[in-house]
Amino acid sequence: MSVLRGKKVLLGITGGIAAYKAPLIARLLIREGAQVQVVMTPSAKEFVTPLTLSTLTDRPVLSSFTDEEDENAVWNNHVALGIWADFMLIAPATANTLSKMASATSDNLLLATYLSAKCPVYFAPAMDLDMYKHPATLKTIQQLESFGNVNIPAASGFLASGLHGEGRMQEPEYIVQFIKEDLSKNLPLRSKKFLISAGPTYESIDPVRFIGNHASGKMGFALANQAAMMGAEVILVTGPTHEKTEQPNIEVVPVISAKEMYTSCMERFNDVEVAIMSAAVSDYKPTDVAAQKIKKKTGNLTIQLSPTTDILAQMGVDKTHQFLVGFALETENELEHAFQKLKKKNLDAIVLNSLNDKGAGFGTPTNKITFIDATLKTKEFELKPKNEVALDIITEIIARL
Ligand code: CTP
Repeated sequence: MSVLRGKKVLLGITGGIAAYKAPLIARLLIREGAQVQVVMTPSAKEFVTPLTLSTLTDRPVLSSFTDEEDENAVWNNHVALGIWADFMLIAPATANTLSKMASATSDNLLLATYLSAKCPVYFAPAMDLDMYKHPATLKTIQQLESFGNVNIPAASGFLASGLHGEGRMQEPEYIVQFIKEDLSKNLPLRSKKFLISAGPTYESIDPVRFIGNHASGKMGFALANQAAMMGAEVILVTGPTHEKTEQPNIEVVPVISAKEMYTSCMERFNDVEVAIMSAAVSDYKPTDVAAQKIKKKTGNLTIQLSPTTDILAQMGVDKTHQFLVGFALETENELEHAFQKLKKKNLDAIVLNSLNDKGAGFGTPTNKITFIDATLKTKEFELKPKNEVALDIITEIIARL
């Protein structure tokens, strides 16, 4: 999943010839899953039409302090726009707009929005080579960088003036890639490796039957997606499930039995900083697996079961540097049982679900959890969709890394 997915972007367009490339920037951002609100300077409208941009972004384009279409003009709230956005991109950014940004001039909606924006601001300069090289422009860019704004330096190439040199706005693909890399750099779990187990395990009785459980894998997949969206590299060892993920930084390792899950997890445990075992691993497996399908006979059938190895408990024994998180699904004396599991398995935290809470636990799209850390500090959360629960869990883990 792209780091731009769900991001709210203010695309500021100023009056330079490179404005004709702005619709492509909007399209690329939208393709990555972002929402784009265009704010144009009045002169930008001479280079690219608001109709093109509003059609592409599916939002009205804003360019003046009031909405002129209506007789009772409505004020376009630049403060609200600045709060709404996750980041602002000004592309193309002319010398004129850059200098006004640096000197806090606020004579159009784009500049007022820039001055009220609390979010990160990127700007992609576009001008002729002598303007770009002028000490006044260089000083302006330095000043904007000192405010924390991010410059996407202009490229060298053929310019509208017919000259060749630096000052050409970077291509839309380059700009979008630049922002993606910059956003990834600041993700809280960048360069952290996670191992997550998910889903049920199936323990074979014979070639056609197994012992399994109702786990859907939803919680484990939500945790993996959330960790990956925050920059982690995730290994997701999952039992049989219908869940899927498209995140590029998740390696999915499908397994069937508790034994396979044990081997796949333990092989990778040493390489990770965080392990979250959310799988509903079968505690027992048939002692002998019949080579042929067991035929129906009269009377009862007894299947002897032997214990599987507890993956989480083994990790608790082996752990050196890892932050180890387990799950506890309980039906009575929930907190007490969770505390015991945390101590017994040598965990850094445990996530408690109670089957007494409606909408919590197995197979449901929601969950209600209590997060307990190694000091037995507990934090109870509301019933929420599993992707929000995953965010809560990952946030609690980050606070303790
Ligand atoms: N777990 C595991 N390997 C197993 C069994 C459990 O890794 N063979 C992990 C689960 O993924 C979960 C935690 O251990 O994170 C708790 O599992 P649970 O089955 O609830 O607890 P148990 O310790 O098996 O105790 P009980 O079944 O008696 O509640």
